[in-house]
Amino acid sequence: MRLQELDTSNRFTATVVSSQRITPEASQDEVRELVLDVGAALDLDVGQSVGVLAPGQKEFGQDHHLRLYSVADLPEKTDTGTPRIKICVKRCTYIDDYSGERYDGVASNYLCDRRAGDELTLTGPFGLPFEVPPEQDASLILIATSTGIAPFRAFVRHLYERTDFAGRIWLFYGARSGLDMAYLNEERDDFAQYYDKETFEAFKVLSPRPAWGDDIDWGSTIEERGEEIWKLLSEAKTYVYVAGLEQVRDALDGVFAKVAGNGELWERRRAEMVAGKRWVELLY
Ligand code: FDA
Repeated sequence: MRLQELDTSNRFTATVVSSQRITPEASQDEVRELVLDVGAALDLDVGQSVGVLAPGQKEFGQDHHLRLYSVADLPEKTDTGTPRIKICVKRCTYIDDYSGERYDGVASNYLCDRRAGDELTLTGPFGLPFEVPPEQDASLILIATSTGIAPFRAFVRHLYERTDFAGRIWLFYGARSGLDMAYLNEERDDFAQYYDKETFEAFKVLSPRPAWGDDIDWGSTIEERGEEIWKLLSEAKTYVYVAGLEQVRDALDGVFAKVAGNGELWERRRAEMVAGKRWVELLY
């Protein structure tokens, strides 16, 4: 999917109700949860994203910059019955390959700088690829990095509160350190409400030496449960949904090849699962 191909003709104004940092101050990552009143113009459902039209640079002919953000909770209604949504945004910077200089990401900084009462232009909604499995006793392996946790937060709530889902959910959330985990840190653990469910388990996957820039150690957490995971992957009612940063793809490929015993076997299993919509990725 290319952003330019999305239909942005449905545009509406949203008002920021609140903007709260949800990673501790000590974390290097500033992740904020924005609560937005979106007016009656938008009928949003779980498993969708909205487009944000951040102001562009007119001198370069850019009216706006379109970026997508996953809806991070079940949509609510205000007292007057209009929709209210939450999005979770990480303030991004990136290094220009050519100059080596650091730049602020356009839309994420625009959003993270908005405060209560500010207005934004949104577009959409657009779909996300994660679907409720047809089998009530399905096994779900959810793998998130960074703000990839946002769609899963809404999805898990939806499964437990609005459907008859009685299967198993394993959530693997990878981050450099516990401080960088949105919605799964000491100050705010939204998933704690499911810890008493026998069917739900959350695993934090960390970098062994975050200060040294070591990669997130998916291997030890996943391989430790490798036998059981491989058994699950051979069952037709197991779904693996992956959301967040693109870099996770290669890391997971290496780990799952080990879990499978060899790379070729893993390639085949993965292809079967992708074809059957049992391995689904939302990576950016
Ligand atoms: P700009 O486009 O100017 O620069 C992009 C740079 O930032 C690139 O180098 C990119 O690799 C990097 N980058 C993007 N996301 C990053 C991240 N999380 N961590 C580190 N680097 C990152 N974002 C979000 O914060 N919350 C969300 O819920 C979602 N949901 C979502 C759903 C879908 C379907 C897509 C395709 C994308 C998202 N995103 C997201 C990503 C979001 O659309 C946008 O790409 C980022 O906010 C960066 O946009 P800027 O305009 O700020 O950076």
